[in-house]
Amino acid sequence: MLLLYATNSGGTQQVSQMVASLLQENGHTVSVKNPKESNADELSVAGLIIFASPSWDYQDKEGMPHEDFISLLESLKGKTLENKPFAIVGLGDSSYAHFCGAVDEFEKVVQNLKGKLIVPSLKIDGYYLHMDENNQAVRDWTSKLLAALSTS
Ligand SMILES: Cc1cc2nc3c(=O)[nH]c(=O)nc-3n(C[C@H](O)[C@H](O)[C@H](O)COP(=O)(O)O)c2cc1C
Repeated sequence: MLLLYATNSGGTQQVSQMVASLLQENGHTVSVKNPKESNADELSVAGLIIFASPSWDYQDKEGMPHEDFISLLESLKGKTLENKPFAIVGLGDSSYAHFCGAVDEFEKVVQNLKGKLIVPSLKIDGYYLHMDENNQAVRDWTSKLLAALSTS
């Protein structure tokens, strides 16, 4: 499994590490990386790809994935990863017009690749402000992901 994450203030890193630990405790091998250290070939051999990102401004556009994702996403344009399992986690803040807009961007990428989202994407609002409930949401979501993996 490949979990690609980027962060500015550390929230997405904490969430990514939690997800990776829970998957590893359940017997999965997870490679956790910054998207700048990955490439399309690596995605094509992974059994599951997880994208995790805050939403941020990029080139004057709000609600975008972290800039570390941009060149990887560009390199995927025109490619297909038919039926490849994907899962998406976004951290954001609902006071912004495009709450967790990065998740919507990733979902478009998965659709264009003809990949398969195996669980509904997780959108986390104000990670540090409500850490207990947000961490619980991450655990619940990862359980759903594990259940989806066991049936796929
Ligand atoms: C300059 C800036 C732009 C942001 N833009 C958005 C946005 O468009 N949509 C959103 O939901 N959250 C937005 N956020 C909130 C962050 O995504 C949120 O704080 C997130 O938890 C940060 O994750 P990190 O700790 O991994 O960096 C923005 C925050 C900053 C500082």
